[in-house]
Formats: sequence, C-alpha cells, structure tokens
Amino acid sequence: MKKIIIASIVLAASLYASNGKALYGKCAGCHGMDGSKKALGRSAPITGWAVDKTVKALTGYKDGSYGGAMKGLMKGQVAKLSAADIKALAKHIASL
Ligand code: HEC
Repeated sequence: MKKIIIASIVLAASLYASNGKALYGKCAGCHGMDGSKKALGRSAPITGWAVDKTVKALTGYKDGSYGGAMKGLMKGQVAKLSAADIKALAKHIASL
C-alpha cells in the first residue's frame, strides 16, 4: 500500500513537472524552443524569465492589462490556460 502511494506521488509530481514543457510546445513556434527568439520580431526574448514576471505577463494578456501592439495575439494564446497551467509554463520558461 505504502509503495502504491509513493508511486502515485512520484507519478503526479512528474506529470506536473512535464506539464509546463508540454504546454510550451505551442509557444515554441514563435518564441523558440529556448525562448530566445523575438516572437514575430515583437516580443522580448523570454528565456529564463523569473516565474513571477511570466505569470504577471501571461495573466495580464489574459485579462488585457499587459502587453504591447500585438497583445491581442497573445490573448488568444493564453485564453484557455488555467492559473495552474500558467504557473507550470512560467516554471518551464524560468528553467530555459
Ligand atoms: C503566433 C506567435 C506566438 C505564439 C504561438 C506565442 N506567442 Fe508569446 N508573444 C508573441 C508576440 C508577437 C508577443 C508580443 C505581444 C505584445 O505586443 O505584447 C508575445 C509576447 C509574449 C510574452 C511577453 C514578452 C514581452 O515582450 O513582454 C510572453 C511571456 C509570452 N509571449 C509567452 C508565450 C507563451 C507562454 C506562449 C504559449 C502558451 C506564447 N507566448 C505563444 C507571439 C507568440
């Protein structure tokens, strides 16, 4: 029983950890696998951004309080992400 519980915790932890990486897949086309591209020549490189900074930016795109001339495009990218998704993405970006 104990082993099963430990195995589920490990599994849940690894799923959570890989979640940000999987979610980032659709961002990589514009931002680059390592976040170093200026997306469509417009964004800052986001490689290694602190978790708080990315969460603030993505949450801001969602509610319209953040962004530049192309914020409408990013709003579409983050509209369906939950707060947990955004956190997972931010952790992944911080690790790039
Ligand atoms: C179709 C191209 C495209 C895709 C896909 C895309 N982005 Fe962006 N991203 C942009 C552009 C363009 C901007 C600059 C928008 C603006 O004017 O504020 C931007 C801005 C950002 C910024 C803020 C950078 C800054 O300069 O302030 C972050 C963080 C970000 N994107 C993360 C993501 C994440 C995470 C995903 C995936 C869920 C994603 N983007 C998907 C094009 C894209």
